[in-house]
Amino acid sequence: MLILGIESSCDETSAAVVEEGRVVRALVTNTQTAVHAQFEGVVPEVASRAHTEVILPVVEEVLRQAGLRARDVDVVAATARPGLSGSLMVGFNFGKAFAAAVERPFVAVDHMLAHAFAVQLERPLVYPYAVLLVSGGHTLVGVSRTFDELEVVGTTIDDACGEAFDKVSTFLGLGYPGGPRIDSLAAEGDRRAFVFPKPRLHRADQRYDVSYSGLKTAVVHQLSQFHTPGYAINAANIAAAFQHAAIEMVVERLSNVCIDYGMQRVGVGGGVAANSELRARLGAWTERNVVIPRIELCMDNGAMVAGLAYHLYRAHGADSLDSGVQSRVAAFRHRHRD
Ligand code: KG4
Ligand code: ZN
Repeated sequence: MLILGIESSCDETSAAVVEEGRVVRALVTNTQTAVHAQFEGVVPEVASRAHTEVILPVVEEVLRQAGLRARDVDVVAATARPGLSGSLMVGFNFGKAFAAAVERPFVAVDHMLAHAFAVQLERPLVYPYAVLLVSGGHTLVGVSRTFDELEVVGTTIDDACGEAFDKVSTFLGLGYPGGPRIDSLAAEGDRRAFVFPKPRLHRADQRYDVSYSGLKTAVVHQLSQFHTPGYAINAANIAAAFQHAAIEMVVERLSNVCIDYGMQRVGVGGGVAANSELRARLGAWTERNVVIPRIELCMDNGAMVAGLAYHLYRAHGADSLDSGVQSRVAAFRHRHRD
């Protein structure tokens, strides 16, 4: 079964053809980072317009690379939630129109479940497994029970991890998107130059939550308070110390989930999973079976959408062409547990 998967929830327009939910036949991603760089962040209206301009060429190109005509596709899938509404609508409506035109079933896909599923495209991993999903919009730890069941155990109580990278990057004048720039600059710095405070999430039920606003404030407004005498105050040292603190936080929460839920298998996803320090830290967990997909499958991509859609379609059949997009999904956001 050949599935065409379309992803457009934020600032990447991506399409892929995946065979039997496993083999990526072709993947084409158009990133809008250059368009948004001048605004130092994603501008929703600009993003939807850019998706509209490139969606057809991206899909045509992926079919060309896969050596297929439109009618060779068996099922069409697109991201339905969560994300920027205008962006989601472009890929979702395109997918529905494509499905209607070639008279094929349509499947609506959840973006976070798709990130958790991307692990399976890298290397099959038996369910259940502990997951860490870290992107520009979400930060969560939990347990992937099966392809369509993600038990969210902890989230960020304020900023997402990738958002913190992007904000600190803007502060350092490195530009947007911040993650990759901080990542490469950090390699030249010494993290011992600053010792940033850890967030105080002491309540037992916050053992899995993270907070990035304190770290961001420490870097942007209170830098000198956390400086280690004898080390230079320069961008590389700030990047190295910030990255270390930011990554430490999620690694620790993921470790808590593995211990408390007895998980030996671990999957990681989302744009921040491209981070070299995160990959190195988790790569050293040799006692666990950790799968971090290759970078193009960590970032937003159509392959994870097509791959997950294969299982959704086999289990639940097609979705109605009347279905719509949803910008937020309550389960993936922080709930105040009082
Ligand atoms: O999953 P993604 O492509 O889009 C969202 O769904 O948000 O994630 C994008 C985020 C951005 O915040 C970007 O700065 C971050 O992932 N990112 C990184 C790295 N590469 C991308 N963060 C840290 N280190 C990286 N190497
Ligand atoms: Zn994403």
